[in-house]
Amino acid sequence: MAKLIINEKNKKGHINAEIYGHFSEHLGRCIYEGLYVGENSEIPNVNGMRKDVVDALKEMKIPVLRWPGGCFADEYHWKDGIGPKETRKKMINTHWGGVVEDNSFGTHEFFELCEQLGCKTYVNGNVGSGTVQEMSEWVEYITFEGVSPMADLRKENGHEKPWKIDYFGVGNENWGCGGNMTPEYYGNLYRRFQTYVRQYNKENKVQKICCGANVADYAWTEDVLKTCFAHPSNPASHGNMDGLSLHYYVHPGGWDKKGSATQFDTATWYKTLERADYMDELITRHGAIMDQYDPDKKIGMMVDEWGCWFDVEPGTNPGFLYQQNTMRDALVAGHTLNIFNRHCDRVKMACIAQMVNVLQSVILTEGPKMVLTPTYHVFHMYKNHQDAELLDSFIEGNGLVGEGECQVPHVSESVSVDAQGYVNVTLSNLSVSEDMPMEISFNELNPSSVEASILTGAMNAHNTFEDPECVKECQFIDFKAEDGKIVFTIPACSVISFRVK
Ligand code: AHR
Repeated sequence: MAKLIINEKNKKGHINAEIYGHFSEHLGRCIYEGLYVGENSEIPNVNGMRKDVVDALKEMKIPVLRWPGGCFADEYHWKDGIGPKETRKKMINTHWGGVVEDNSFGTHEFFELCEQLGCKTYVNGNVGSGTVQEMSEWVEYITFEGVSPMADLRKENGHEKPWKIDYFGVGNENWGCGGNMTPEYYGNLYRRFQTYVRQYNKENKVQKICCGANVADYAWTEDVLKTCFAHPSNPASHGNMDGLSLHYYVHPGGWDKKGSATQFDTATWYKTLERADYMDELITRHGAIMDQYDPDKKIGMMVDEWGCWFDVEPGTNPGFLYQQNTMRDALVAGHTLNIFNRHCDRVKMACIAQMVNVLQSVILTEGPKMVLTPTYHVFHMYKNHQDAELLDSFIEGNGLVGEGECQVPHVSESVSVDAQGYVNVTLSNLSVSEDMPMEISFNELNPSSVEASILTGAMNAHNTFEDPECVKECQFIDFKAEDGKIVFTIPACSVISFRVK
């Protein structure tokens, strides 16, 4: 039996709600069809936003949404997406499938969506093919209240009051699709572009995010920080950044052999989870470089793209990145979110890619139909960690499971206490075949109220439009709570969450 020991007296840090964030790009059927169907659609909508999708995302407690990309962001010219829809410019989405982008979803629609979702906003600006003036004017258009050319234009377009930008990304993947830059070159551009991301509302500060590394490119982190922190005239500028991004996708067979999202063997199961577990090392090592410049951890590590990236579903547009989502994705999500929680001193935001119909989505749609994926249920089961305090925890007797060289912890955990005083425990059993008998013990807490839910199924179980509830969160009652302990067995291939008082 493994023992989860919780020391509820030792609070280890605040779990930013934004760790549970999402990403929506103009890619495939994420924005169009997935989120936005237009006011005239037969699919029930509010101001063009799908009602079923918005309701499900609210129920999951989405904290922040990143938009418009991704690679798309560095080709996006925001003025094409404002004003009367009939006159908006049409363009080719060169990155994603070469389809026509009619710009009917633009700035006003994004803020309308975030208002409906009740979530924070993360706008990603264009450094790769845009100008400083264009970026600066976008921020003015969105956030300036007084009289100015851009604020006046916003009012002419029907929005009197400014909106709030919570986070602003100064470019995306500028080491790759965002301009193929060197770290020194980008670092200098960051210094210049961010200067004109003005703080028009002192109470609602825009948090600026600098483009960080791809996977294990530690030299990028080092060189960008060195360039941004080199401020002889203003040493207090602290790199002029609130966040530094990190992108990491899980491909079990490598970039060229991603493999099917639903057809895989147990060796691929463990390879996938081993690749997911690598997130821990990436955060630790990039974090160690950040510590040299920012020992007080004022700058957040923003893992604003993460998740599984498999082959597209057979017969679908390869440029649309549409993939199914199984219990394997659920375990990747459960384990990764536990890793983020445990690194909450440095990781301040994370956005799974992407929210609807693209890569590791929480929601899939087909016409008027919608299914919640296993990943959705994990986010729902973990939602009480948002804005809670991480607690000290350790699993005694937790072995490794796997095949060959791919070994991962049998059970992954994180524990927090929320504002209502509930202790939230999330556990993921990464074994495809071995259950784990467990006991949870606390330092002082003698539980009087215990509620739990479980997500479990065969390793490649998934929800389809014909069978939308094959995998779903269920109440878990198979535990005993006595003598201050909770005793139960976590089945193989499952995620459990406890809420204890
Ligand atoms: O999420 C899909 C793509 O992956 C994004 O556009 C890009 O930033 C990353 O390479």
